[in-house]
Formats: sequence, C-alpha cells, structure tokens
Amino acid sequence: MQVSIKTPEEIEKMRVAGRLAAEVLELLDEHIKPGITTEDINRICHDHIVNVQKAIPAPLNYKGFPKSVCTSVNHVICHGIPTEKKVLKDGDIINVDVTVIKDEYHGDTSKMWVVGKPKPGTERLIKITQECLYKGIELVKPGTKLGDIGHVIQQHAEKHRYSVVRDYCGHGIGKVFHEEPQVMHYGKPDTGMELQEGMTFTIEPMINQGKFQTKLLPDGWTVVTKDHKLSAQWEHTILVTADGYEVLTKRSEEPF
Ligand code: MF3
Ligand code: CO
Ligand code: CO
Repeated sequence: MQVSIKTPEEIEKMRVAGRLAAEVLELLDEHIKPGITTEDINRICHDHIVNVQKAIPAPLNYKGFPKSVCTSVNHVICHGIPTEKKVLKDGDIINVDVTVIKDEYHGDTSKMWVVGKPKPGTERLIKITQECLYKGIELVKPGTKLGDIGHVIQQHAEKHRYSVVRDYCGHGIGKVFHEEPQVMHYGKPDTGMELQEGMTFTIEPMINQGKFQTKLLPDGWTVVTKDHKLSAQWEHTILVTADGYEVLTKRSEEPF
C-alpha cells in the first residue's frame, strides 16, 4: 500500500478526531491517583468518548482487544489491558493510550503520569521520553526522512543510557488506524521515506530504563520489558504541513 496524502477535507476531520483524543487525556489528570484501578480509567474514557464526544473508542474490539484504552503500568511497554485488579499505588508510572474515531477518522495519543510520590529516576525517564517525542516532532516537514526522526530519538535516548524499543513503532493514520508508513524510533539520518505535505502519522517512542528487548504476555496483548525494568511512552498524531508540522493531538499544557 502507498502512503496516503490527506485532502483538506480529510485533514479537517483528522483535526477534530485529534482534538477529541487529546481532550480525553486532559480529562484524566484529575483522576490519576493512588487507589484508582485501570478499569476505572477505562470506564472514564469510554463513557466520555461514547456519551459526550459521540465518538468511537478505536481499541475496543480492534483485532480482539477487549477494552477502550490501553493502560500500561511500570514495566509494561504498551497495550496493557485495563482491569479492576490493577490498583494504582504510590510511585507507579502509567501510560494511557487513547484512540478515538470521529466521522471515520482516527486521533491517537498517549501520555505518562507518576502516581502520587515519584520513585527515584522515574520522572527523568518520563521527561527524556517526552523530549524524544518532541525532538522527533520538531524535524517534521516536507523533505525530512523517516530515518532522521528515528535517529534523533535514538540519539537522545541512548545519550541518557536508555534503550529504544524496536519491536513496536509509530504508523500512518487516517480512516485506517494503522497504515503506511511505519515510523521507527531508531535509525540513520538521510534514510527511509521522505515526508510530504498532507501525510498524517504518529510518533510514539517507547523508551526503556534497561534493555530494549520485549516479551508478549500470554493474554496476547500486554507487552513488557524482558528485564522487567521500567518503560515510558508518549504519542502524538502529526500532520505534515507545507513548511513544518501540526500536532493534531496537542493538549493545552503543551508549547508547540
Ligand atoms: N493506540 C495504540 C497505538 O498507538 C494501538 C492500540 S491497539 C490496541 O498504535 F488494540 F491495543 F488497542
Ligand atoms: Co499509535
Ligand atoms: Co496509541
């Protein structure tokens, strides 16, 4: 499949979907604290997406995924399944990954929180991972190559002696949740596909405190670090504009 270039009408729908996904993350800020379960988080997101936004939570039933958001705690890298058995406690770190479908188009974004009082090193992992995302975003413009983005992310992570997960990557997005191209979070400058105005894709680096190797749990979804050290992830959906980028899932707390 070729990479799709979105029309102005499609871009407007992507803006709407992106804004809704961002709003779900903003809504969660007041709820994430010790004692809440990941199923509570799932329910808050699901109800807001369905009842308030009149939108569709894309993960629900996607390839059999059973819930409306992904909740990935501590050594879970991505695709954690919300459950009432997972009670957040002081010092945990969590990623909530929200994807909404509105008017057929997807908006996909995630962020990290520390629950209660941070443990040593956790805030740094989270901050460097966000910087990896932002450094990737800043390179987005026509003519940049995907390898440039992967390279800057890998450089920043490894400079801080973290590792970049190889087994999962960012992706083109539009009417289809995961489409071409694959957006690697490691790579070499001046390699890979060249960006063009009208492309929409995610950047979603997963950065580990230890080694990059992953393990899939028997539930078929939950991806954990093989060494059980912590992992962090941040994600945005990005539009390539004539002279740069637009972050379609920007939250009000962000600079861009
Ligand atoms: N939102 C994830 C991503 O960033 C995908 C989740 S698929 C699910 O691509 F089925 F696990 F929800
Ligand atoms: Co994504
Ligand atoms: Co996502």
